Amino acid sequence: MLTAPTCRFRPTEYAMKAFPLSEYPAKCKQAACIQLMIMNNLDPAVAQFPHEIITYGGNGSVFSNWAQYHLVMKYLSEMSDEQTLAMYSGHPMGLFPSHSDAPRVIITNGMVIPNYSSKEMYEKMYAQGVTQYGQMTAGSYCYIGPQGIVHGTTITVLNAARKFLGKEDLGGVVFLSAGLGGMSGAQPKAATISGCVGLIADVDINALKKRHAQGWVNEMVFDVKECVERVKKAKRDKEVVSIGYHGNVVDLWEAFAEEDEDVVDLGSDQTSLHNPYLGGYYPVGLTFDESRVMMKEDPAKYKEYVQESLRRQVAAINKLTEKKNMYFFDYGNAFLVEAFRAGAEIMQDNSGRGVEDGGKFRYESYVQAIMGDVFSLGFGPFRWVCCSGDPKDLETTDKIAAAIFEELMETAGEKAKQQYLDNLKWIREAMANKLVVGSEARILYSNCEGRTR
Ligand SMILES: NC(=O)c1ccc[n+]([C@@H]2O[C@H](COP(=O)([O-])OP(=O)(O)OC[C@H]3O[C@@H](n4cnc5c(N)ncnc54)[C@H](O)[C@@H]3O)[C@@H](O)[C@H]2O)c1
Repeated sequence: MLTAPTCRFRPTEYAMKAFPLSEYPAKCKQAACIQLMIMNNLDPAVAQFPHEIITYGGNGSVFSNWAQYHLVMKYLSEMSDEQTLAMYSGHPMGLFPSHSDAPRVIITNGMVIPNYSSKEMYEKMYAQGVTQYGQMTAGSYCYIGPQGIVHGTTITVLNAARKFLGKEDLGGVVFLSAGLGGMSGAQPKAATISGCVGLIADVDINALKKRHAQGWVNEMVFDVKECVERVKKAKRDKEVVSIGYHGNVVDLWEAFAEEDEDVVDLGSDQTSLHNPYLGGYYPVGLTFDESRVMMKEDPAKYKEYVQESLRRQVAAINKLTEKKNMYFFDYGNAFLVEAFRAGAEIMQDNSGRGVEDGGKFRYESYVQAIMGDVFSLGFGPFRWVCCSGDPKDLETTDKIAAAIFEELMETAGEKAKQQYLDNLKWIREAMANKLVVGSEARILYSNCEGRTR
């Protein structure tokens, strides 16, 4: 049987998962922790393409090949408290003398001098196995499954409603977006944790069914009219529910834009628009299968379909924000820039100027508009892993974190207090929400004092 080159040397004689710390061969505890994190990033229950050493995001590599995995695990098993392992795009450079307070591993991924730092050169060097893209937590060994993105999306939705709708209680708020894929699949779960009505579209039936089976999408709907009526009822009854619509999000935007009453309060989009013409964004008017064929057989025509779809999507969104008080934000997927490139009415004026020429988008990105205020309070994400692998330990740490937040809240200013409250809600409900996939890990936002405590 042929084996793909990246799969050579993949270990099959033991399970790939985070084992309790005591089971790792190591002379130094920190090195054992890193072995645990690496194996968690490669756990088939956690990783997107575990055989190809990809943890998430389509190309977030842990190593370039499995031989590197064996070398790194060997180095980590031999490392002392006074050594540091240097990593270079998956290649271990060796153990270097350091000291006990130094980092045990230092990592760089995809580092290339500027003259060679182009997409074409990257693809070539990646194919040669001499560079890799580590995403944020794949090549740094600290991915903790989908929990991180569920938390980030929950905090974003809560703060968007607070800042732009003036609402602390999200009962009856409708959040409409697209994408039930790798990261975007967090949206329906975040909507219900936030206490609102989440309506998320996906053209891919498998993505929808997966999120439904997992319990993150409560209900599936297959017809636009039925969907609009179902959402109106959920809004009226202030139901906390996530509805997954199978179909193109543009059809939903246009249907809500035709409605007389205000239905949608918050809007976003999390299709893979960083990759619009190769399957990241499916245009309205073509089925999923038709798109798959056309993008390969007639890419020029397919591009026209994508751009027309973006123009229609923006036109409907504009109608809703102008007449119906909906708040729309870009969710870090290049929606605004691709809509501009498609000629959609996404700029504040019609001068045709892009952002680089001083033009301004009609809508803001979530980092700038929503999360910036939170980050500027010193609040940001931090995560921990219970190396025992025991869920009871995680429960104990959740309780410790909640008790510290309750205490810090008493003396916090009004804005910081709200952030503590959002995170208290998260940590109190975390166990019940069953967010753990892989290692017994938790994510939380806090300021420096809370993180340190
Ligand atoms: N905001 C953040 O914190 C954050 C974090 C990670 C990723 N991202 C970005 O979000 C985007 C999505 O990431 P992902 O991992 O979920 O990608 P993904 O490709 O796994 O999922 C995107 C989904 O959108 C669906 N889709 C595409 N066009 C559609 C349309 N017109 N109507 C309905 N559904 C459609 C696809 O079928 C797919 O399931 C990427 O661009 C990524 O870079 C943002």
